[in-house]
Amino acid sequence: MTSAYASPPAAAPAPPVPAVRAEGVTKAYGSGDATVHALRGVDVAFAAGEFTAIMGPSGSGKSTLLHCLAGLDTVGGGRVVLGDTDLGALNDRRLTLLRRERLGFVFQAFNLLPTLTAEQNILLPLELAGRRVDRDWFDRIVDVVGLRDRLRHRPAELSGGQQQRVACARALVARPEVIFADEPTGNLDSASGAEVLAFLRASVREMGRTIVMVTHDPVAAAYADRVVFLRDGAVVGELADPTAAAVLDRLAALEG
Ligand SMILES: Nc1ncnc2c1ncn2[C@@H]1O[C@H](COP(=O)(O)OP(=O)(O)OP(=O)(O)O)[C@@H](O)[C@H]1O
Ligand SMILES: [Mg+2]
Repeated sequence: MTSAYASPPAAAPAPPVPAVRAEGVTKAYGSGDATVHALRGVDVAFAAGEFTAIMGPSGSGKSTLLHCLAGLDTVGGGRVVLGDTDLGALNDRRLTLLRRERLGFVFQAFNLLPTLTAEQNILLPLELAGRRVDRDWFDRIVDVVGLRDRLRHRPAELSGGQQQRVACARALVARPEVIFADEPTGNLDSASGAEVLAFLRASVREMGRTIVMVTHDPVAAAYADRVVFLRDGAVVGELADPTAAAVLDRLAALEG
């Protein structure tokens, strides 16, 4: 005999908290007639363990959005939430600590310290935070970036691609919740760029990292899981599992 009481339907699992999200974010530069509305109310969320590319025409607000998401710039309105921390609620000192402890950065200019070796550059974030080096994690990163035989070299003795891979390793070493990259391959030839992108891809797939990357390059964007398109300071669309050709089509439509 069947029970008169059907078991209750399983509750839908709560959606996972995004690694970082923007809610109604606005940002203007200047004042009066000269005001530039760089962001006009951006709502976008980035899931943990996902690699997202942000694309759009020049001046569409990509770097501004990245800087706001990373707590490098303040928002005019709306809010940015990292995990469950509202960045707007933090004073400068706590924001600096949050960036150091919870975020990683890779920018177009590699920003390596010239007098330090590759290994010392990679370990710098831990040094600054006074944190212990997890040698197993360090070894794993060094193997993924393929820099084992370059650890004692200084930046001037490395190629552009190798320097950028050092910068990527440095961004990963403290196991940040989110890595922000603005045109990380902008200064690289296409072979070095491909090395860096393959590394970012691997760090998401094999090490569970979360990456938000601004790029102009449809080939670079195709390494991501998702592309978010900006135009005139607003999100105007997105694309899952992008191919370079699909990204190019969307961009052409945006710019046309
Ligand atoms: N510090 C600033 N002062 C004044 N205007 C700014 C400042 N930073 C950005 N802007 C303006 O805000 C708008 C968005 O700039 P942003 O740098 O975010 O664009 P972007 O999409 O990254 O462009 P690009 O692809 O050229 O890097 C642009 O019109 C830009 O001129
Ligand atoms: Mg930019």
